[in-house]
Amino acid sequence: MMEDLAMHIIEILMNSIAAGASKILLKIKNSIKEDIIEISVEDNGKGMNEETAKKAASPFSTSRKTRKIGMGLAFLKGLCDSCNGIFEISSEEGIGTKVKASIQKSHIDTPELGDIGEICMSSIQANEDLDFTLEYNNDKESFIFSSNEIKKELDGVSLIEPEILLWIKDYINQGIKQAEEDNV
Ligand SMILES: Nc1ncnc2c1ncn2[C@@H]1O[C@H](COP(=O)(O)OP(=O)(O)OP(=O)(O)O)[C@@H](O)[C@H]1O
Ligand SMILES: [Mg+2]
Repeated sequence: MMEDLAMHIIEILMNSIAAGASKILLKIKNSIKEDIIEISVEDNGKGMNEETAKKAASPFSTSRKTRKIGMGLAFLKGLCDSCNGIFEISSEEGIGTKVKASIQKSHIDTPELGDIGEICMSSIQANEDLDFTLEYNNDKESFIFSSNEIKKELDGVSLIEPEILLWIKDYINQGIKQAEEDNV
């Protein structure tokens, strides 16, 4: 299986954007000590009622109109099941949704993290006004990216200028790389 965790996470981020979120917090904990990779996406989108949230991770549950199956959550749940992990959704209508996946880092089926900078960039590109935060932690280091902080620094320049988007992607990937290098 060639897909990496970033490919799973982008599905969850795009769900948040589709749900009209103006604010998204992506947390990634990558811990050797605890042997865990924990990913959570928290949004302030339209949320789901209890029944929808309960069924959301089934492949046959979707609010899509174009086809009858929705796979984003089902795939992530499947990954958790095969990597000794835990998958959780909590959601409140009109308030927002939190999706959390914890998997065993050393499990043989646990994929690579992949290009986190790229998927953060894609989320910002999908909604220029999005208040997007990434919190990355390992055992020793923590790296935080906030689109609102960058916006302040840029003083009116749009985040979805191509050079800015590419800078964001590199900045995030550098931050994660640095945190990993310092975690030995
Ligand atoms: N963050 C969210 N906020 C509100 N509803 C959500 C959220 N994430 C998922 N849902 C609901 O759960 C359903 C299933 O999501 P899932 O990602 O599995 O499939 P999909 O988005 O419908 O289709 P696909 O991901 O395959 O394009 C969605 O159709 C939507 O109704
Ligand atoms: Mg989806």
